[in-house]
Amino acid sequence: MRCEPFTNQRLFRLYEHVRDTLNDFKTMGGDIGSGMGEACLKDKERTATLMDKVWTLTTPGQEVADLGAGSGILGLTALLREAKHVHFVDQNPYLTSMIHFLATTMGFDNDRFSVNAGDAASIALAPGTRLDHVICELIGTGLIGESQVQAVQNLVGKGYTHTGTIYTPESSVSTVELVDVHSRALTQPVPYSTVRFSSETAAGVQTSVTVRGVREGVAASALIRTELEYHDGSRTGAFKNLCKPRKALLVREDKPSWDILVEPGTQLELRIEYAFGQRQMPKVFVQAH
Ligand SMILES: C[S@@+](CC[C@H](N)C(=O)[O-])C[C@H]1O[C@@H](n2cnc3c(N)ncnc32)[C@H](O)[C@@H]1O
Repeated sequence: MRCEPFTNQRLFRLYEHVRDTLNDFKTMGGDIGSGMGEACLKDKERTATLMDKVWTLTTPGQEVADLGAGSGILGLTALLREAKHVHFVDQNPYLTSMIHFLATTMGFDNDRFSVNAGDAASIALAPGTRLDHVICELIGTGLIGESQVQAVQNLVGKGYTHTGTIYTPESSVSTVELVDVHSRALTQPVPYSTVRFSSETAAGVQTSVTVRGVREGVAASALIRTELEYHDGSRTGAFKNLCKPRKALLVREDKPSWDILVEPGTQLELRIEYAFGQRQMPKVFVQAH
């Protein structure tokens, strides 16, 4: 589900205000990091969709965490929706100082927010924190490259969540398919990993699936796609800056240098192995049946 940016005028005004403040901070020489937070914010379709999810899933009085808060846009949306308190977390101290500036100048009382600079995968929040809603957008396609699982599990492990806590997003479903050098699909996509962030115990993916050919060609790579699921049952797919399909290295286990030929009906077993949150090129091992 995507949003036409923006149907909710309050959210549109918030978006413009945060974007303009980020630009002002940059002009004043603020080091807002490698640009990921900024690129995400400026992907309007992505940001409008996530803001709409947060608006829908936040209820007045909730205690909320916004992990990988970036510009703070999602936690600020929760504050606008009358969250009791938002714990913002980002590793970039320039962004956290901007979040503090934004929340203060927007008129939110000091006791309604706290801003934490540090690694979301290990950060400790104030003693007694009891979260009703965890917002976390540290998502790399396939959960590669960003520490979504570790960040949510850190809060669960430290006892800040409870059985009624909701998570935005709640889970991810990743699929794999073989594609040729022009990125045309040679097999159907097959789900290989479903991760429910609140209860994930695995450190990564280690699984095998069988794919079936739908077109003739030589496989050049494995394509991974990820969809996100939300507490209201809706799903989102790829945006310019979220869940963009990504290629994995294809390795033929039995004859490393041979072409992997696919024809309609060909069955191939794919073994997929990688750790969540590592900056690495995932490998997909393939074996002809
Ligand atoms: C994908 S952006 C999302 C920003 C914001 N939540 C949004 O939706 O626009 C990810 C942000 O997470 C931060 N980040 C990445 N890894 C982190 C970590 N391990 N701990 C804390 N922040 C992290 C980055 O600095 C960046 O600002």
